[in-house]
Amino acid sequence: MIASNRTINYLRISVTDRCNFRCLYCVPSSPFSVIEHKKIARYEEILRITKLACELGITKVRITGGEPFVRKDIFSFLNRLCAIENLKDISITTNGALLTRKKIEQLTSFGIKRLNFSLDTLDPVKFSQITGRDRFKQVWESIFASHELGISPVKINAVILRGINDDEIENLTALTLKYPFHIRFIEYMPMGNSAVEKQQQILTQEIREKIESRFGKLVPVERTFNDGPAKKFQISGARGIVGFITPISSHFCSECNRLRLTSRGTLRPCLLNNYEKNILNPLRNGASDDELKKIILSALTKKPAFHGLTDQSSENIPISHMTSIGG
Ligand code: 5AD
Ligand code: SF4
Repeated sequence: MIASNRTINYLRISVTDRCNFRCLYCVPSSPFSVIEHKKIARYEEILRITKLACELGITKVRITGGEPFVRKDIFSFLNRLCAIENLKDISITTNGALLTRKKIEQLTSFGIKRLNFSLDTLDPVKFSQITGRDRFKQVWESIFASHELGISPVKINAVILRGINDDEIENLTALTLKYPFHIRFIEYMPMGNSAVEKQQQILTQEIREKIESRFGKLVPVERTFNDGPAKKFQISGARGIVGFITPISSHFCSECNRLRLTSRGTLRPCLLNNYEKNILNPLRNGASDDELKKIILSALTKKPAFHGLTDQSSENIPISHMTSIGG
């Protein structure tokens, strides 16, 4: 699929808005409701949309949430997803708390080779403060079990917040010395109404300076075809990679190759723009495959050239929160 001169080959599917964690930067500070079950796309519906998207050129899928592993029967869904023709690459973003060695083995047996974990600190106490849950040990064990079972790369996403975990940058980075992990620092995006304040946001430049003053100059790693938005580097001699994802300090919209399917069954061309096109209602009302394909293609023509997050005058300030879109 071609939209605004880029090939869109990557679909992110949020299978649920629910999560067993309450990360500071993700959940709204005021009470929020979850989406009614009947409004959430059923597995059969997601599979049909995904098959059609693959016929239109999608070759990569990422499963997100909320937390994907809180959804019932997710394993049989993943198994069926992996059988879709033309779908070469399936990965999952997870907080890792519900994974076990056995479950990871199952994922690899389906053909899933890549996992992204969210981990913002190596300190169990801080971990509980950030996520609202005392689950550091489970997450840490899942990360290492994945590595041992051949998941590659194991990616770790960290959101660094001033006064919360800015003293963990070096610890997280040091993991790359010993393990072939990709540690990716993501700039905090003010989504919804999380309790995080603007002054707590730390931009990539500052994180990078901290890393370089401790470990020496970061060496750029050549981008490969199909790389995501992370700019990749290595500490000289390290096994792993340090990545920076910079939604705030530098736009990567023009290179963005992804489309999102939310758990409510809407297609969302951009995470940071509230435009969504509902595909679930037409599907439930009996739309044909061709009609659904037209809906997918029309959502793509709405892919913006840039997002409004850094433009204070913009009316396009995101209102949705991350759990309902899937990050
Ligand atoms: N800003 C930046 N990243 C976020 N994530 C969740 N909320 C935010 C936010 N407000 C990231 C987490 C997680 C992924 C699913 O989304 O790092 O790894
Ligand atoms: Fe859950 Fe991920 Fe949001 Fe944390 S960042 S609350 S793990 S969806």
